[in-house]
Amino acid sequence: MGLIYAEQVEYMSVDQMQKTHEDEIKIINEIEKLAVGYERGTTEQSELENKLDEYIEHVKAHFANEERLMQEYHFPSYEMHKLAHDMFLMDLQYATKQWKEFGDIKKMINFVAKTPEWIVMHVKSVDAPTADYIARKMEQQNEA
Ligand SMILES: [Fe+2]
Ligand SMILES: [Fe+2]
Repeated sequence: MGLIYAEQVEYMSVDQMQKTHEDEIKIINEIEKLAVGYERGTTEQSELENKLDEYIEHVKAHFANEERLMQEYHFPSYEMHKLAHDMFLMDLQYATKQWKEFGDIKKMINFVAKTPEWIVMHVKSVDAPTADYIARKMEQQNEA
């Protein structure tokens, strides 16, 4: 499991999107550390579980806020972007179920460990053009 750095993730031209990405990266790295501690027996399971819950909530709020912004500013590729979120959420839901219903916390940890790759790609190819569009619209509104 590798750490992810904010610098690896494309910078957003919309501040709130940038902050959300930085916050999510922080949570992912915290989970990585807690998971290592959990395996060594130095971290309480409850501490790791609370952080995983925080992660799930953060992802949901992150996507919901981007979708709200896209609708507010009539982003033309809304459907495509939302579909990418929905597909990720389905995988997240599956991992969460393995953890919560079947007690397989490793499945959940592995899922989180693999997300940096997805984030780097999604932010670069989908969030960046979305943010550029929204930032332009925001500017136009301020000028009007
Ligand atoms: Fe995003
Ligand atoms: Fe997104």
